[in-house]
Amino acid sequence: MSPSIIPPATDPVGRDDRPLSITVDGAVVAGVHGQTLASVLLAGGRPQWRTAPTGGARGVFCGIGVCFDCVATVNGVPDVRLCRRPARDGDAVTTQSRWPGDVR
Ligand code: FES
Repeated sequence: MSPSIIPPATDPVGRDDRPLSITVDGAVVAGVHGQTLASVLLAGGRPQWRTAPTGGARGVFCGIGVCFDCVATVNGVPDVRLCRRPARDGDAVTTQSRWPGDVR
């Protein structure tokens, strides 16, 4: 999965992007309607947003809803797979951690 987004002006399919914005741990990240939350984060330069129990950084692994590596809290609901969740304007994403001693 590419962590970049093709600008609409140079995309040959002629799409009409409608912008949206979400927050990730309080920081505003811009996206477009039709993206998943994971793709908004990747395109926004955030390839990792979770810490595994082993201390390893996690983000998207499978990208199809199988591995649960991409989970985060969305609008207060924990363990949402960001690769499966369409982004909606105003979504509030909070990163999660299973790292011992990390209270998130
Ligand atoms: S990346 Fe595997 S479930 Fe989301």
